[in-house]
Amino acid sequence: MDNRPIGVFDSGVGGLSAVRRLEKLLPGEDIVYFGDTGRMPYGTRSRETIIGYSKEIIAFLLEKDVKMLVAACGTISSNLPDSVVKALPVPYTGVMLPAAQVAAATTSNGRIGLIGTTATVRSGLFGKAIRSIRPETKLFGKACPLLVPMVEEGLLEEDNEIVRLTLEMYLSSIKKENVDTLILGCTHFSLLYNQVDRVMESKVTLVDAAGAAAQYVQSFLTERDMLGDSSRKGKTRFFVSSEPEAFCETAQKFLGRSISADLRVQVLGK
Ligand code: DGL
Repeated sequence: MDNRPIGVFDSGVGGLSAVRRLEKLLPGEDIVYFGDTGRMPYGTRSRETIIGYSKEIIAFLLEKDVKMLVAACGTISSNLPDSVVKALPVPYTGVMLPAAQVAAATTSNGRIGLIGTTATVRSGLFGKAIRSIRPETKLFGKACPLLVPMVEEGLLEEDNEIVRLTLEMYLSSIKKENVDTLILGCTHFSLLYNQVDRVMESKVTLVDAAGAAAQYVQSFLTERDMLGDSSRKGKTRFFVSSEPEAFCETAQKFLGRSISADLRVQVLGK
């Protein structure tokens, strides 16, 4: 048994999609969440910058004595090099490999769509991960950077016209490719799950990368006997690098409860 918290991080509110799922799957676990709201979006930045920011957040979470690190961010997952992951003192998962496994197991026709940030699609690593499991698959990626600030702004209503039109614009090329599976490869997009499903006319299976990662964490901790005492109720603590009020407002809409977040600007730069 291990009562230490799980450390979950993202550039902003996107990783809450993993938190929501983890709280459901593992209600006895404590979670420490960090959203780098002061430096989001990550998806339009260079790989070096993404790695540098991620290392700072990881150091912060390790100080909180986490037992596992979860990069609830497609951008970080597909840009953090193995050398950094291998040097970590606690187990790590991103959202990319769990999502790739689910997508490879889901597709029937071998044609998979991916929506993510520019940095995620540019990395090409989702396709590599899926083809390492099912070599005959084809991945059709589309970067959708405008969706990230929309989600941060809390535009989560299912009937929001701006979001619908933006999704129509981004998804039109993927629709033409006859995919049967679509990966929501940016955790911000998990907050728009129903809206994406509607624009895809419920014709494809959506793979929510954040949900796949949460399931992976559950199996990983269970298999290694690293879960906390399940008789108690877990607590989630939130930290952000800027504007805690705005973060809490969007978080409240998505998590369905009010939360408070502590400001930790010292994570920003050195
Ligand atoms: N939530 C992130 C992801 O999964 C990053 C979005 C961003 O900061 O651009 O890719």
